[in-house]
Amino acid sequence: MKDQKLISKAREILNNNYQEKGFTIPCQGLYPFQWNWDSGFIAIGFAHFDMEKAKKEIKTLIDSQWSNGFIPHIIFHNESDTYFPGSEFHQSSLSPLVVNKVPTTGMTQPHVLGFTLERMYHIAENKEDITAFIKTTIDAVYEYSLYFYKHRDPLDEGLVYIYHNWESGTDNSPIWDDIWNTMKSPEYKFERRDTTHVDASQRPSNEEYNHYLHIIEIAKAHNYNDEKIAELSPFLIQDPLFNTVLIASNQSLIRLYELIGGNEDKIATLKQLTEKSIQSFNDKLYDEELKAYCHYDLRNKKLLRYTSSSSFAPLFAEIPDQKRAEELVGTLMDKFGNEDQYMCASFDPTHERYKPKQYWRGPVWINLNWLLYHGLNKYGYNTIAQRVKDDSIEILEKNGFYEYFDARKEEHKNNTAGYGGNNFSWSAALLIDLLSE
Ligand code: SER
Repeated sequence: MKDQKLISKAREILNNNYQEKGFTIPCQGLYPFQWNWDSGFIAIGFAHFDMEKAKKEIKTLIDSQWSNGFIPHIIFHNESDTYFPGSEFHQSSLSPLVVNKVPTTGMTQPHVLGFTLERMYHIAENKEDITAFIKTTIDAVYEYSLYFYKHRDPLDEGLVYIYHNWESGTDNSPIWDDIWNTMKSPEYKFERRDTTHVDASQRPSNEEYNHYLHIIEIAKAHNYNDEKIAELSPFLIQDPLFNTVLIASNQSLIRLYELIGGNEDKIATLKQLTEKSIQSFNDKLYDEELKAYCHYDLRNKKLLRYTSSSSFAPLFAEIPDQKRAEELVGTLMDKFGNEDQYMCASFDPTHERYKPKQYWRGPVWINLNWLLYHGLNKYGYNTIAQRVKDDSIEILEKNGFYEYFDARKEEHKNNTAGYGGNNFSWSAALLIDLLSE
């Protein structure tokens, strides 16, 4: 009964956020356009009760693909004065690779599309219909995967870089502070919009926004050319979350291609890339002392030695062997698993940079919990996985469908401890998916 009430509220949120043009905003006001990885999670939610909307969501996102396979992070389908920086700042039309005229950003986001398609396939009751849909979309998703290895892997390691913190999805993680310390960005004149919707103390600072804008200006000055960006961007990171999600999407694409038949060459390419990626991932991104996966700073050639929720994402793509997984789960429980905490804080709660109310500097996020839940189950850590799932449901039930949540249980006793946007689409979508398990 309780579950049914939550599910119907979640469905209502998704339906309200769905737009006529065939995409779903993450939430009203704060995020009024289509966001790349949000769309994937949203489609998984819709697949449980309105497959047509799920398919449309994916189709609309893929329609923004550039001629090199790249799919942007925001698609500005409409005008809006509630968001900064909008289409006029990003100017995607500078790139000669743009195909669709709808303006976008010139950066991307974690590639969730491969495993989204596979999840949709498993949820679908009408397998014939979903197979037909997959056949019309899978090559675009494959090209998106290949884009990264062709244009974002300068050392040919099978590890791809991101050139902007907004590409990571974990926008203002304390890990990026190390990069900001290497930069001298101009002080831009701009009017923030996010802080008119959400308490400014829970959002990134203006100094951080100067860095965010500065990196975009560098990319724009070179018409979003990948080679120039690799040469010049002060932010050039091999991110364990980003690379995990890409590998997981490749693994899903392999299984989907096998399912629809043919395409042996693509399957072989994906297998070869995935194997190489996993090898390099384990060689380069694991810190033996922290016993956790970390981010590698390609620009300054060093591992950024911090533990965050991204450190445990590799379980989702079965990147560690069982022995390393055990060590990693030990770190997870030592640092993030205290009984007075909801799992899983987005940044190491034992670290001085931990800020439990500030966006990606500490709060719990439902999409990272969803990845962790599935990752833990893959290695047989079913009890911890169940805790991650129960914690996710409990914080949504107590607070509502917020964007992010305080990990400290104490904070939930008398107050709302959900922050950021409310009626947030992926919190709703993934609750539906978790409750369907
Ligand atoms: N989430 C970002 C923002 O806060 C953009 O991806 O605007």
